[in-house]
Amino acid sequence: MDINGKGVAASIRQAIKKEIDDKGLTPTLAFFLIEDHAPSKVYVGMKQRACKEVGITSIIETLQASITEEMLITKISAANANPEIDAILVQMPLPDHIDSNRVIYAIDPAKDVDGFHPVNIGKMLIGDSSASFPCTPLGICTLLEKENIETAGKNIAILGRSMIVGRPLANMLSSKGKDATVTLLHSKSKNLSFHLKNADIIISAIGKALFVKKEMVKQGAVCIDVGTNHIDGVLVGDIDYKNVKEVASKITPVPGGVGPMTIAMLLQNTVKCHKILAS
Ligand code: GUN
Repeated sequence: MDINGKGVAASIRQAIKKEIDDKGLTPTLAFFLIEDHAPSKVYVGMKQRACKEVGITSIIETLQASITEEMLITKISAANANPEIDAILVQMPLPDHIDSNRVIYAIDPAKDVDGFHPVNIGKMLIGDSSASFPCTPLGICTLLEKENIETAGKNIAILGRSMIVGRPLANMLSSKGKDATVTLLHSKSKNLSFHLKNADIIISAIGKALFVKKEMVKQGAVCIDVGTNHIDGVLVGDIDYKNVKEVASKITPVPGGVGPMTIAMLLQNTVKCHKILAS
């Protein structure tokens, strides 16, 4: 059975819009976008449309790929100091000559809508809910919750150890309240099939088209697909959806699964930044 991330995300967006309207909130999100990075342009366009739909003002600063690290940090410092801006998002990846860690460190943690700043990562690790939590992991946790998928005591295999998805997600799902036993798998892991086959829930975020095959999945497992890959121009996930859905009890489609949840969580985090800064 499909997990309807698109539908869940739509109802979350509706609730966010209602809160903004009812309370007369004026949240503002500033995007920094490298203009000639085509996928980033698409993602930021989608995020901006979602902002508009719920009543979040978005500002976009488009940057030449040749921008220096110093210049980008200067622009971020200006956004930090601007009281009209509640939240800042620097769309990744950045060009190779820029150290993305230094850029992330430059963002005011209170405006770090992605939850990438070490202060927010540290808060997440100790379970301080005042932090922004990274949008994709938060979206996955929310989706599991809304779908009444139990995580306590379950074996969850996560494929991919990125700071955007795998590592924060492993922390979130193994923490108190979620209580899963998490196996974080990566390119050097051995016996991948063994670990996957043992999992009650598989979450894949490795960016390899159709990597997870039916034979690797336990009968009745829940499969969550974070992948956005293209085969001959067609968007596909990391999981071989057509075949895996025969054994999975629930599976997220691509598109329409995790992607819309990430955007809904971005809107939620923006409103949270706005409320904290206004308080
Ligand atoms: N690039 C891919 N995913 C993300 C994300 O969640 N946030 C940012 N800032 N960049 C990304």
